[in-house]
Amino acid sequence: MLMVGRKLLRLYLLIIYYLMNEFLKSVLLKLSRLQRKGTIRLLLVCFLLKLLSIERRMQEKLSIHGAWSSRWVFIMAATGSAVGLGNIWKFPYITGENGGGAFVLVYLICILLVGIPIMVSEVLIGRRGRQSPINSMKDLAVESGLSRKWSLAGWMGAIAGVMIFSFYSIVAGWVLYYVAGMANGEFIDIGSEMAGKKFEALLADAQTLLIWHTVFVLMVMIVVAGGVNKGLERATRIMMPALFVLLFVLLGYSMTSGAFGQGFDFLFHFDPSELTWNSVLVALGHSFFTLSLGMGSIMAYGSYMPKKSSIGGTVVMIALLDTLVALVAGLAIFPIVFANQLDPGAGPGLMFITLPVAFGQMPGGQIFGFLFFVLIAVAAWTSAISLMEPAVAWMVEKFGIKRLPACTALGFLVWALGIACLGSFNFMSDLKIGSMTFFDLMDFATANVMLPLGGLFIAIFAGWKIKQSVLKDELSMQNHFWFSAWYVAIRFIAPVAVAAIFALNLYNKFTV
Ligand code: PHE
Repeated sequence: MLMVGRKLLRLYLLIIYYLMNEFLKSVLLKLSRLQRKGTIRLLLVCFLLKLLSIERRMQEKLSIHGAWSSRWVFIMAATGSAVGLGNIWKFPYITGENGGGAFVLVYLICILLVGIPIMVSEVLIGRRGRQSPINSMKDLAVESGLSRKWSLAGWMGAIAGVMIFSFYSIVAGWVLYYVAGMANGEFIDIGSEMAGKKFEALLADAQTLLIWHTVFVLMVMIVVAGGVNKGLERATRIMMPALFVLLFVLLGYSMTSGAFGQGFDFLFHFDPSELTWNSVLVALGHSFFTLSLGMGSIMAYGSYMPKKSSIGGTVVMIALLDTLVALVAGLAIFPIVFANQLDPGAGPGLMFITLPVAFGQMPGGQIFGFLFFVLIAVAAWTSAISLMEPAVAWMVEKFGIKRLPACTALGFLVWALGIACLGSFNFMSDLKIGSMTFFDLMDFATANVMLPLGGLFIAIFAGWKIKQSVLKDELSMQNHFWFSAWYVAIRFIAPVAVAAIFALNLYNKFTV
């Protein structure tokens, strides 16, 4: 009885074991199936996410050259482009030549009514196109059903960039020479006569000019070859804060050591009788030059801008910073000029003759003079980078080459053209094209003709040709008022102002 009972129990246990086993097996199988399904599902989800991100990237369309890591970097980089020799060298001397306050007022009006609206358009076109200005203009034209010939505006800009760079680099070379001179104490107690002679001697010395010109071109090439993030962005992050600190240190110095009231008065007194149509053209041209407009620098920088950031506010910030630097530079320079009874209308030599004299006589002048020229060198460097970027980006896109060979080819071109510019002060000084030396011609042709013309094309393109839906989509302005204000400025005010000032000057040239 016991035996039967035991056998039955074993059988029972065996059956249970068997059933359990089967059950577990089926669960495991199910689980593994589930797992496989899960894997498939997981893969599917990944795939969909990938598709979504590709879609987003396609929608956001990033530039192949890279992207700024934040809105602030873009603001700083664009300000770095805008703030340059135009602000610290050119603005004070053309203000001096054109009589001061009234000129400053016209210049400020040009910035507000023409410069800012065009800068908004450039950033918009760049960010929409996400390529070099030449290709962005082309793609946007095609998107709005227009002719591809609009890319010619980009072409003119890239050429203007090379031309500006060639004479810019000569002046930047003078600055580097003065940095070294200040560091060596060459200007201590120098009188105005000696300072004038020293500057003249520098201009006559083609070899020295060539050396510093070459150094500057190389400095710019190194940064641009590094690319958007490792070159342009890195340089911006280091140099822009330094620039602002130096500028305000110098303003403090001028306020305490110069004839501040007189300098202030010179910049801001208003006497319309000093204004001529030519000075209005100079003011307009300068508003383009100082904001780096009309040639694609800001457009190229805009193509690396994050999609989320608002264009309007960003541009106003850049224009304000640029104007602030020009005015502060004026306030730093003129009080020193007046305190030393020097001539504010001395022309391009203002910064290189009068200031060293002033610094040479002032307490602490050697250090502050050195800092001043370092400041200008930094400002020129961050601007020249942006002069090269549009053409380099285009070469990379067009020929599929790396940045280094593109920079080398372009750098060589700029360098060679620069030799003709520096020759204007010595071995080519007799060559006059309509009373202008080659250097003057490069400056005049770009700042007073090509940039305003480029700006005019951009205004017509953005104001009249691009579809409104595209404009609204890119600007995404919540506030209707600002959109309308911009739209009126870009359709009517900017093109009419540029065309009218051009026409008046031509008329004056032929009638006078
Ligand atoms: N904005 C620069 C300056 O003020 C010059 C510049 C012009 C740079 C055009 C880029 C493009 O010095």
